[in-house]
Amino acid sequence: MSDPGKQAAALAALEAVEDGMALGLGTGSTAALFVDALGARVKAGLRVTGVPTSAATAAQAEALGIPLTSLEEAGRLDLTVDGADEIGPGLALIKGGGGALLREKIVAASSARMLVIADSSKQVAALGAFALPVEIVRFGWRSTADRVDAALAGLGFSAPSVVLRMRHGAPFLTDEGHLILDCALGTIPDPAALDIALNAVTGVVETGIFAGIAGAAILGAPDGSVTRLG
Ligand code: A5P
Repeated sequence: MSDPGKQAAALAALEAVEDGMALGLGTGSTAALFVDALGARVKAGLRVTGVPTSAATAAQAEALGIPLTSLEEAGRLDLTVDGADEIGPGLALIKGGGGALLREKIVAASSARMLVIADSSKQVAALGAFALPVEIVRFGWRSTADRVDAALAGLGFSAPSVVLRMRHGAPFLTDEGHLILDCALGTIPDPAALDIALNAVTGVVETGIFAGIAGAAILGAPDGSVTRLG
């Protein structure tokens, strides 16, 4: 059954969509509700093109008849609508619970505006209760994990837990063929600084911290009401 908060946020985000827009289409259960609603609008005549952030979203959008293109073809996107695992102060985000963080960040960074949609439970006073996903290359992954661990300790995180994400008994592979380390940190005092520090670690491809990227957020409450941030 659909979550009323997620559904309300997804439907409210449709108001930001204008005819002719090139859209980044996010990944996850909330983004999927938005894509469903967008598909209904497209059927009714709305003309948009979408750049999906994952194979799963591409398959969903295709099935709904939403015209898709590549980032290369589209150039700069007008708007990206995507979910988040945590939304902190200043609209800093943790993303990547679904493993699509790299494409999500590339698509968001290529958009004039990123609109986050989520149920209200995702808003937090400080990021970090959700384990931070960090995408790394497969080659030498254990040494990369050790360097991530050391970098976190050097930044003052006491006893961080850095765990390789598994699925069905095998390492989880992203759409780009990489691995994910889930880093349980507790509280992240400076998300932007952590993002920069982890991206400097050899073997790291990208982190799930989105700092200074999202321009607005719509939070849906269980009663179906929405709050707008940004
Ligand atoms: C996908 O990799 C994630 O970044 C999702 O956007 C995030 O996990 C939110 O997903 P839900 O909308 O399912 O909570």
